[in-house]
Formats: sequence, structure tokens, C-alpha cells
Amino acid sequence: MEIIQKFNSFLDRSLSIEIIKTRPKEAIKFAKKYFKGKMITAIEIGVLRGENSKEILKNLKIKNLYLVDPWISYEDYSKSEPERTQDSLNIDFKVCRANLKRYLKKIIWIKDYSEKAITSIKEKVDFIYVDGNHEYKYVKKDLNLYWDLLNKGGILSGHDIQYVGVSNAVLEFAKEKKLEVHFGERRDWWIIKK
Ligand SMILES: C[S@@+](CC[C@H](N)C(=O)[O-])C[C@H]1O[C@@H](n2cnc3c(N)ncnc32)[C@H](O)[C@@H]1O
Repeated sequence: MEIIQKFNSFLDRSLSIEIIKTRPKEAIKFAKKYFKGKMITAIEIGVLRGENSKEILKNLKIKNLYLVDPWISYEDYSKSEPERTQDSLNIDFKVCRANLKRYLKKIIWIKDYSEKAITSIKEKVDFIYVDGNHEYKYVKKDLNLYWDLLNKGGILSGHDIQYVGVSNAVLEFAKEKKLEVHFGERRDWWIIKK
């Protein structure tokens, strides 16, 4: 298993290919230990089929989970991700609802771009997972906008640090705010708000 993981990690980093999905992702594993069963409120930016949302709901004690995604195909998004057509995103949304069927009472759906969605979130949260548009300007905006929604002692985290847009935005944000960034062995990163 260790050899497979090393091989997977090598491919992951060098070719950006994931053979074995590692779930829950590292930021969630960390949050599970960190919050120790405390009831928390969370946000996921970029939901797609809700696979990671399900892990958040399974592994953390969630009161409310805000799921933010427009499920819209737009030009700036296609630049940073494999092409996703509107038809495929419509299917992803249906799959997402089905995947999360048993957790619907805890979910607040915000079918919109993260920049606009934030105006609908009226409470502070403890855990934020950023995995929407991976272009630098979008990630930087997500970090700056959503940071203020995070409670003291909360975790801001995200995926795909191997993308230049993501790493530049995360490192720059941390430097500007004098924050320490933690990295998983794969693609996750997280920052604790002190
Ligand atoms: C990589 S997928 C998310 C995968 C999901 N977090 C998981 O691990 O299963 C990225 C998602 O971000 C969404 N997205 C793209 N631009 C966005 C934006 N500006 N705001 C919020 N979500 C966005 C896309 O529609 C897509 O579903």
C-alpha cells in the first residue's frame, strides 16, 4: 500500500493525475482532530458532485454547511480546469443532491459564484474549504472575502495547491496577513485563525 501511495503521490505532483482518491482530504482529517467533535459551521466553495462535502459531513460534527457553487460553465473557469460543459455541470448538480440526500437538513445551498454567495451568509463559521475557480485572481478574492467570515480558532483551507494560481494566491495572502500555512503531503493546505 505504501508503494502505491508513493507512486500515486509522485504522479499526483508531477502529472497532476489522481489514481487513488484519498478521502477524506487532509484538511478535513486535520480539522477532525483539531475540532475534537465540537459542533461547527462550515463552508465549501466549489462543490461539483458533493463528494468532498459528504466527507465534511461524515467526519466533522456539522450544524450548518454552506455549499457554494454556480454549477455554471463560464470561460474563466474552463481556463483553470478540464473543460466542463453546461450539460455535464447540470448532471453534476443532480448527482450532488443525490449524494447528499441524507444530510439535506444541515445544508444551505447557494447556487452562485463565491463572490456573490458571500452576501447570503449571515453568520461566522469555523471551517472553510476553498476549491472553486483555481485561477489566481479568483483564489485571492475567495481568501480575502471569506477570511472575515471565519471565527477565531477557525480553519481556512483548500485544495489543489499544486496549481500556480492557487499557490501564489495562498502564499501571498499568508504573507500579507502574517499567517502560517500548513501543507498536507498531497494537495491540501490550511491556515488556523489565531
Ligand atoms: C474542483 S471542482 C470542486 C470539487 C469538490 N470540492 C470535491 O472535492 O469534490 C470545482 C468546482 O468549482 C465550481 N466553481 C467554479 N467557479 C466558481 C466560483 N467562482 N465560485 C464558486 N464555485 C466555483 C465549479 O462549478 C466546480 O463545481
